Amino acid sequence: MNLVLDFAAPLVFAALGGVLSERAGVVNIGLEGMMLTGAFFGIWGTTKSGHWEIGLLSAIVFGGLMALVHAVFSIHLRADQIVTGTAINFLAVGITGYLFIDLYGANGTPLDPKTMPNIWGQQPYYILTQLVHYRNGMRENPIMTSIAKGLQQSDLRPLAAYFAAKPWPAASNAPAAPAEAPKGLTMCTPCHQANFQGGISWPRIAGLNYDYMVAAMKAFANEERTNNMDMVKIMKLFSDSEREAMARYLAALK
Ligand code: HEC
Repeated sequence: MNLVLDFAAPLVFAALGGVLSERAGVVNIGLEGMMLTGAFFGIWGTTKSGHWEIGLLSAIVFGGLMALVHAVFSIHLRADQIVTGTAINFLAVGITGYLFIDLYGANGTPLDPKTMPNIWGQQPYYILTQLVHYRNGMRENPIMTSIAKGLQQSDLRPLAAYFAAKPWPAASNAPAAPAEAPKGLTMCTPCHQANFQGGISWPRIAGLNYDYMVAAMKAFANEERTNNMDMVKIMKLFSDSEREAMARYLAALK
């Protein structure tokens, strides 16, 4: 029922908008483009600010701007409404497609590498377990939890396989590696493997972002992230500065 409401709400609102336009004498076939623009900027505003309210606001503003363009052409300039509506749809696909690549990159580098891990080239089983953990609440993150809950169970495995098959993105501005590996790292290799590329049930940690790793390790140590109790126990053995030294070394690995 919840899911039905979630998915139906945007369509009902768009249909209402369509009815209003119709009553005002405008055939609004550009609704799809306005929805796409609103959806894109809703996500953009939310991830940029960390607040869904800002996302909602940017969805309204940018979706409204598209409607304004349509209004200027079809009402003010008296252009053919079907033509302008179609143009709006093409324009929205173009703009969002272009901005998506521009903002989020087409090479797998996350929007904000300090808080978002690479998933291109990550171990498939690890990606899968994290999606499951976000869905069942074992791992918490406001954005990932709602995204993972919106996915179908049957989509998780193909999604994990899809991202795992992509090349690991080259690290941008990783701090210089300390010449020697910090001693504690020998303890990690049984699981994360000799070159820290990960394996069947362990994530790759070579070349992960330094800030992301420091935060992840600290979260395990403080029991803020408890979806793997081995990691919680291991991270408690180290001090903040020891974990930072390990992260510095690992972040510089290819
Ligand atoms: C007993 C096996 C094991 C050992 C030993 C181990 N890890 Fe892990 N590590 C894991 C597993 C499994 C995960 C994934 C946990 C999950 O499901 O969230 C993980 C996750 C991590 C993550 C988070 C990765 C991410 O993408 O969020 C970091 C960072 C990490 N380990 C670093 C280390 C370091 C550094 C060491 C050595 C000091 C170490 N681990 C030792 C099994 C291990």
